[in-house]
Amino acid sequence: MPPATLAVLISGSGSTLQNLIDRCADGSLSASIVAVVASRPGISGIERAERAGLRVSVVERKPAETFSDRVFAAVRGSGAGLVILAGWLHLLRIPPDFENRVLNIHPSLLPAFGGPGMYGRHVHEAVLASGATMSGCTVHFADNSYDTGPVLLRREVPVLVGDTPETLAARVQAAECVAYPEAIRRIVQ
Ligand code: GRF
Repeated sequence: MPPATLAVLISGSGSTLQNLIDRCADGSLSASIVAVVASRPGISGIERAERAGLRVSVVERKPAETFSDRVFAAVRGSGAGLVILAGWLHLLRIPPDFENRVLNIHPSLLPAFGGPGMYGRHVHEAVLASGATMSGCTVHFADNSYDTGPVLLRREVPVLVGDTPETLAARVQAAECVAYPEAIRRIVQ
């Protein structure tokens, strides 16, 4: 089986990217990252990519009308077969040639706690406020709205008494580190 070629799209710290870099390097994920696209300069995800010797394209949002086209032009130029949203914060208009080839990971058990405004700490705060006893992460195909699209897999974690948004986020993040490589393996196979 040929390795999957991934374009990883980042907007922030790049911890999801780092996990994929590490899994590709240790051979547990048969894939290679052929492009990293960042939605702004100066984010630490870019430093992580560059440390790993990966080429980074910065595609800024403005002008907004052409943002998706410019992102997918960078992806096409890399020859990537699969687009991995990794802490990517922007809605994309997915072109026909990338339908069912864009994956997202979200730090809750979708459809719960998804949608506009539900990212990062906001998700974990909402989970704790709801009194839910389980949370987790969801890997899904991205479509043209926030956090919808067919689910590939979910991985659950418990919500523990005394959890703060930070402690819950750390537990969910650990689940994400298993779930995303697993989902990519499934797609590739
Ligand atoms: C994680 O919560 C993930 O679920 C979401 O972005 C966060 C990680 O951001 N998609 P980053 O990879 O550290 O930038």
